[in-house]
Amino acid sequence: MWAHIDIDGLDPQARWHSLRESLTGLLSPADHPITVLANAAAFIYETTDRLNWAGFYLFDGSQLVLGPFCGKPACTSIRLGNGVCGTAAERRETVVVADVDAFPGHIACDGASRSEIVLPMIAADGKLIGVLDIDSPELDRFDENDRRGLEQLRDVVVERLAGRVVLAT
Ligand code: SME
Repeated sequence: MWAHIDIDGLDPQARWHSLRESLTGLLSPADHPITVLANAAAFIYETTDRLNWAGFYLFDGSQLVLGPFCGKPACTSIRLGNGVCGTAAERRETVVVADVDAFPGHIACDGASRSEIVLPMIAADGKLIGVLDIDSPELDRFDENDRRGLEQLRDVVVERLAGRVVLAT
């Protein structure tokens, strides 16, 4: 049962710590990987303000395939190296985009998106699981605190996937 998380008034570090603890309690390693991803997308979308899209693209061995998300319908597949998602997946590092219109090759699924952060998900054995993609209708929405905090939430999701393959590769 979803319960409101009271994070109002917390400093950024305490806020992200509280969200990490809540997400850890929400997701179970016993859940199916799709369930883990679906609830993680909903949790991030519900607890992080000024977003218009939050969700996952999963690597199927050759490209990124749309997974569970919250927001408007989105493009269904992205090749490595293409767009912000494919760039983060290929580089295996978080990509923060202050202005999507200034990012060469940005893929505009929702015209309302103005800034974006994409975080790669890498399993303990080094395999690419996919990416966590988050869009905002505001320019320059994601600062260093947001990057570190969202990386903590990404790490909880990877840990709860527990090395299980989400898409057959
Ligand atoms: N903007 C992403 C594409 C995914 S939509 O934002 C959901 C990109 O450039 O890779």
